[in-house]
Amino acid sequence: MLRLLTTREDLDTLLDREDLVLVPTMGALHEGHLSLMRLAREHGRKVIVSIFVNPLQFGEGEDFDQYPRKLVEDMDLIGDFADYLWAPTCQDIYPLEVESKLEMIHANSEIADKLCGLSRKGHFDGVCTVVTRLFDFVKSSKAVFGEKDFQQLMVIEDMVKRYKLPVEIIRGPMIREGCGLAMSSRNQYLSDKERKTAANIYKYLKEVASGALTIDHAREIMISLGIELEYLEKHWDRLFFAGKVGQTRLIDNINTGS
Ligand code: PAJ
Repeated sequence: MLRLLTTREDLDTLLDREDLVLVPTMGALHEGHLSLMRLAREHGRKVIVSIFVNPLQFGEGEDFDQYPRKLVEDMDLIGDFADYLWAPTCQDIYPLEVESKLEMIHANSEIADKLCGLSRKGHFDGVCTVVTRLFDFVKSSKAVFGEKDFQQLMVIEDMVKRYKLPVEIIRGPMIREGCGLAMSSRNQYLSDKERKTAANIYKYLKEVASGALTIDHAREIMISLGIELEYLEKHWDRLFFAGKVGQTRLIDNINTGS
């Protein structure tokens, strides 16, 4: 049975930390998140999911206020996929900062200062800061992150190595909708028409990955479809996409195998 934990004291008194695997999320859960929980189950005895919409990783003008918060639905969805759901408040995560200065953990600029790091200044520092605290509070031996956010995964793997954090990172494969669209909590912002447009992203990523289309040509096609392209670039054997469909910013990536 799923056990709901809120405060840090709850973690210290109620959590069985032996062979525990953490799945950090910001909630509005979908099949992509559930797949990480299944994977966590394969790698440990107990699974804890955290839900915390981290203000530090949202920039000005981004969707922090609108970000979907659905704790009751999320709890129903998690069901038996996890043993614990930890839903801390901002004060639980950043207690000292209520009164004094917040100590940020900085992402490695070689990884973070490209792709999403260019348009989302400070985003990965915000991710590193919260993830460090989640690790520090939960103290699980393993944590699972999805390849959907591949740059984030690289940043976190690097941080764990640099700071010698006592946690093993497990990579979870990308889960897509039937139409190919990468599953995301933000997909619910899309209208039906926008969703159809967004389904093209994966189609053209695959064509570039297979060599059927050049990156330049794919960029042109995406723009002609009404996608406000932010980047379509190759890094680390992967092709990365970010762009807006309507008001919704979407990201995607695919292995190019070269
Ligand atoms: P969130 O966007 O909720 O994602 C939580 C985890 O689910 C991340 O590891 C993400 O990569 C993974 N995920 C999301 N969609 C997925 C999909 N379609 N397939 C596979 N995995 C998917 O990423 C965050 O939250 C935050 O930045 C967080 C790491 C929790 C720090 O605040």
